[in-house]
Amino acid sequence: MPSPFLWGVATSAFQVEGALTEDGRAPSVWDVFCERPGTVRDGHSPATACDHYHRWAEDVDLLDRLGVNAYRFSVSWPRVVPEGGGTVNKAGLDFYDRLVDALVARGIEPVPTLFHWDLPQALEEAGGWSSRGTAQAFAEYAAAVADRLGDRVRRWITLNEPVVHMAYGHAFGVHAPGKALDVPDVLTVAHHQLLAHGLAAGELRSRGLEVLLTNNYSPVDPATGSEADAAAARAYDALHNRLFTDPVLTGAYPDLSAFGAEGIDAVREGDLAVIAGSVDGLGVNYYNPTRVAAPPQGAALPFDFAEITGVPTTAFGWPVVPEGLERLLLLLRERYGDDLVPMYVTENGCSQEDEVDAGGGVADPERIAYLAQHVRAMDRARERGADVRGYFVWTLTDNFEWAEGYHQRFGLVHVDHATQRRRPKDSFAWYRSLIADRTGRAAEAAPE
Ligand code: FCB
Repeated sequence: MPSPFLWGVATSAFQVEGALTEDGRAPSVWDVFCERPGTVRDGHSPATACDHYHRWAEDVDLLDRLGVNAYRFSVSWPRVVPEGGGTVNKAGLDFYDRLVDALVARGIEPVPTLFHWDLPQALEEAGGWSSRGTAQAFAEYAAAVADRLGDRVRRWITLNEPVVHMAYGHAFGVHAPGKALDVPDVLTVAHHQLLAHGLAAGELRSRGLEVLLTNNYSPVDPATGSEADAAAARAYDALHNRLFTDPVLTGAYPDLSAFGAEGIDAVREGDLAVIAGSVDGLGVNYYNPTRVAAPPQGAALPFDFAEITGVPTTAFGWPVVPEGLERLLLLLRERYGDDLVPMYVTENGCSQEDEVDAGGGVADPERIAYLAQHVRAMDRARERGADVRGYFVWTLTDNFEWAEGYHQRFGLVHVDHATQRRRPKDSFAWYRSLIADRTGRAAEAAPE
């Protein structure tokens, strides 16, 4: 029986769990990064986040009330293999085992992501993603999680947004591990992430499981009609959209000559064979398109960002362009043709300045409009032939938004970070009825 379209929400371990020192979890690069003064806005601490590690049952109840048939969460590598390699921490796996059981009992498909940026600090100290050993360690960790959960979990996401982890974490230095490497070394980080994905995919597939790779994608437009801006747009597109996708779907790296790179030194014979054809589904995270211009003379990178004007923006300042999602899904289809695999929108959502009103409700009409418009854009792409099999809202509960701390609220559920009280926003009810409509499930009057 073909599986039904997945309607879900997505979260990640470090952003919701808290309990950073419990049950044998060791620090990740994010624990260490957040300790450094000036890295997180207003010095917000990730120590508690949404306290999901203790309140997971309440959060599963929320998922149940929402009516989703899938839940994308991430497994914390430093909880499961605290030193990155070697001993597996049973208590860490127990947590995800309980979560998976609770989801399955409610008819919600668990869709775990194995790496959502929280590299064990021990591995960082051994070279992190600059070291090939990290790729091997990831495959072993993936195998350990699959051995424990693979009897109940069918679809697995290896990495979340390797392009963002590469660029923000290893080039711009604004995310953990806070490095500012040169282009060749940044490309090494890219290759080792892809190799990690490919090796882990082998482990998962040898157990009969399906493999997805999730990236951030963004349609790219040149700021003007000039040839220089067009070249900048091509360079940015190669980096953002192709670098982590071409090798997986077509077996070759894109042209990176605009970055002064003829190739990637870290690539060894046989690596591309491991990476090529290693996915059964492509996870597409979409937030906004990107506009780029030619850089000034002598700049380190072959592009510059240009502002997108004339459209609404989110609290984060991100431009709201729903048609971008339709365009993106069709672009991927056109670009990869028969090499493309089914797509899943694994993240889409927006941050807004949500406030609790006197009656305890949270009106978030901008989020409802954002989500409704993006779902329609996805529908149009599907009508025009894009094979999309799922849609996940980012995110369930307002959470720790990386370097922004608790400032950006992306949740369908408001969280008072002082008390951990959860309050479904209006968008929660909106999404519940959308799912009920689309799945034909009776829209039970779920109690608030
Ligand atoms: C994505 C990340 C996710 C969240 C959203 C807002 O880039 O994958 O963790 O931070 O952005």
